[in-house]
Amino acid sequence: MEIRSVGVIGAGQMGGGIAHVAAAAGLPVTLVDVEDRFLEKGRASIEKNLDREVAKGKRTAEDKAGALARLSTTTRLDALSGCDILVEAIVENETIKRDLFGRLDAIARPGAILASNTSSISITRLAASTRRPESFIGMHFMNPVPVMQLVEVIRGIATSDATAGAVDALARRMGKTPILCNDYPGFVSNRVLMPMLNEAIETLREGVATREAIDGIMKLGMNHPMGPLQLADFIGLDTCLSILRVLHEGFGDPKYRPSPLLVRMVDAGWLGKKSGKGFYEYPA
Ligand code: CAA
Ligand code: NAD
Repeated sequence: MEIRSVGVIGAGQMGGGIAHVAAAAGLPVTLVDVEDRFLEKGRASIEKNLDREVAKGKRTAEDKAGALARLSTTTRLDALSGCDILVEAIVENETIKRDLFGRLDAIARPGAILASNTSSISITRLAASTRRPESFIGMHFMNPVPVMQLVEVIRGIATSDATAGAVDALARRMGKTPILCNDYPGFVSNRVLMPMLNEAIETLREGVATREAIDGIMKLGMNHPMGPLQLADFIGLDTCLSILRVLHEGFGDPKYRPSPLLVRMVDAGWLGKKSGKGFYEYPA
């Protein structure tokens, strides 16, 4: 089954990025969020990132205009009824995602694929909130989507070969490299990444070094493009905490216990770059 149109739910940093690369790949895209102001912010950031690509000579001004013309935004979920695939990129919360997928299942046309960009939540359990688990799959893009090569593809217990094949082809059309893995908490990417970020936060909490020293050591010593505290801010501290909680509960192993400093920062509304404050400050 060839995917010819895409719906994206959630116009935040990930949903915006997914809509950007799908539209740039020539696909009509419908982007949905709960309020117009989130859609306006999402579109503005897509435009800025397309401008960045034009300035770098990666795309022409015509490519940019074409991508924007293929992108429509709306707060109405039923506008997604004609899409071949719906990619969900809303908040990392299982209850909220399950509720949304129940509604998307009722709206999507028969045979349409439902995909989640979840960072950690069980694809099999999300699929069970729909009547089409064979057409359900994890399509985990990396941040920033226009730059990062990987799409981690996660099959649930019931995902069909046809669904996995169609999503593999879509990821390649979007210029990405899909890599398949099985459905375990945090999959591969965040099972490996999050304990490192959590440990960096504990290192800060224990006063082993300053934030700049921790990030500097990991950047210069390990050749990471961003230090772990900077990366946690970039991902969103709320998202990091949610992922660590999924790992902690899913494996029942205390090694995944979220740092109390991370918990307190999220309690304070310090969510990293998107809220203006995290381990670093981000003046508007
Ligand atoms: N959106 C789109 N493009 C962006 C961007 C953004 N927010 N930020 C930077 N770019 C582009 C730039 O245009 C530039 O493109 P070219 O290579 O074509 O010139 C490229 O990225 C590099 O940009 P800069 O030179 O300005 O900045 P940089 O060298 O500091 O790189 C970065 C920025 C690519 C974000 C780099 O710091 C990096 O790779 N950081 C680590 C990112 C990472 O680990 N992502 C995974 C997070 S975990 C995840 O996503 C999974 C999860 O579930 C939490
Ligand atoms: P974000 O906070 O930037 O954006 C989430 C968006 O979803 C917001 O605009 C919000 O208004 C919208 N939303 C919330 N509930 C909604 C609903 N019921 N219907 C429609 N829209 C709704 O979050 P993000 O960083 O883009 O993360 C989104 C998803 O992608 C999460 O599952 C996250 O774990 C995953 N993810 C995040 C990253 C990352 O680095 N941030 C990387 C890979 C995957």
